[in-house]
Amino acid sequence: MLPYKTLIVLDRQAPASLSTQIVNALIRHIRQGVLPANTKLPGSRVLAELLEVHRKTVIAAYDDLTAQGWLVQHPARGTFVSSQLPEVKPRPIAESPKPGLAQQTGYSFGKQKQLAIPVLKPSSDLTFDDGFPDVRLAPIEQLARNYRNILKRGFQNHLLNYSDTNGSLFFRQQLARYLHDSRGIPATPDHIFTTRGSVMAIYLLAQILLAPGDVVAVGQPNYRTANMIFADRGTALLPIPVDEYGINVEALAEHCREGPVRMVYVTPHHHHPTTVTLSAERRVRLLQLAEVFGIIVLEDDYDYDFHYAGSPILPLASADSAGMVVYVGSFTKSIAPAFRVGYVVAPPNLIEELGYRRRIIDRQGDTVLEQAIAEMLAEGDIQRHLKKAQKVYHQRRDTFCQLLRDHFDDAISFTVPDGGLAVWAAFSPAINLTALAARGREQGLVFSDGRFYQPDQPVVHHTRLGFASRTPEEMERGVGILASILGGQP
Ligand SMILES: Cc1ncc(COP(=O)(O)O)c(C=O)c1O
Repeated sequence: MLPYKTLIVLDRQAPASLSTQIVNALIRHIRQGVLPANTKLPGSRVLAELLEVHRKTVIAAYDDLTAQGWLVQHPARGTFVSSQLPEVKPRPIAESPKPGLAQQTGYSFGKQKQLAIPVLKPSSDLTFDDGFPDVRLAPIEQLARNYRNILKRGFQNHLLNYSDTNGSLFFRQQLARYLHDSRGIPATPDHIFTTRGSVMAIYLLAQILLAPGDVVAVGQPNYRTANMIFADRGTALLPIPVDEYGINVEALAEHCREGPVRMVYVTPHHHHPTTVTLSAERRVRLLQLAEVFGIIVLEDDYDYDFHYAGSPILPLASADSAGMVVYVGSFTKSIAPAFRVGYVVAPPNLIEELGYRRRIIDRQGDTVLEQAIAEMLAEGDIQRHLKKAQKVYHQRRDTFCQLLRDHFDDAISFTVPDGGLAVWAAFSPAINLTALAARGREQGLVFSDGRFYQPDQPVVHHTRLGFASRTPEEMERGVGILASILGGQP
């Protein structure tokens, strides 16, 4: 017989009745598999003796569990754990012995309130998202073909084994060539570290390069997740204004003269969230400042590939002769967010440190996926896909901006973005963006109410409206809903 006296610990001081405590304990053990289906339970008299309770208490508990479907009672044979367990339904709060039970019965832990912010995700077919790619365009056939082949031959060439913490060597070789050819970054595989997307890269870099109390300059506004990472590291955020030419580098220079700035985080190609591109003049000045004041420039080039106003502007990393820029990118916008492959380009000593840091949370990346993507780079599949996607997104940007102009001349203003996958839309101050987003959701159109992007502002009038993931027909439907809510023409 199982040690029921140990399994069912009764607290005679608890507000919950002894019978309820027996019920809860037995349900927990059934759920956890300690009492598998068809287990015979002790008779009520035996259990009552073991637990030192009245037999009626055990009978009441068994009856309750039988009524709920956890137990079955056979008159001649006894009481058994049911072979058909009920669906787990949350118990009404009133039945819980104490509010916050989970914390009182188990361990407790500190909660990071600043991190408890819901992630942005497309929650409806009709979403103007943060600027996500259209996964329907993703080159899945090629990826699946490569993946399948790797799984088939993986046993021979160790692809399925533990491998380099810094990422697949073949991937890093192909990526080095790709980064050189597409954006002039002079990297060798030793300068490259793979991650599961840009966010992980920023997080690991913050762990290594920053210490609590360090000053990190960020745009005002800035990519919120990066701010969360820096705040989580205990650094002091230094907000630098952003205008139509990007982050105000002269304002940064003034701060540098006043005290040390350890790092500046930038999204120069398409600033997040405003989409503006950092001007050539400010780029030169930023690199000078970095060299003179010893500021690490963390360049997050999250959607480099999608630029519509002429050729993409080369990253800061391609012009960084002083070695102050750490470059971060990923394939999550170029293939699909579900395929988590990103990278850092940095000097080999930092790459080595990244490897040590990663090893304790993620022994290595997804080497099979890295290999599959590397083969796509080698075959030119990614490059071909990006050319096609760029064309589609360019058209979608134009269609979307035209729709916004046609329908919301007074209500929404914006600058047509030179690149990226979203419009930074300014709603007229008369519009309550929070109420508008809530009404949109009721009508089947999901978009952010903007608070995610500017949490420090008491009232926000801006939000990002992603166009890339929506077909023209979907955009029209979405804009139609928005127009009808705003009282404009449907
Ligand atoms: C500025 C910026 N950086 C990084 C990321 C995250 O990219 P990843 O999916 O590669 O982690 C995003 C996602 O939208 C982003 O907007």
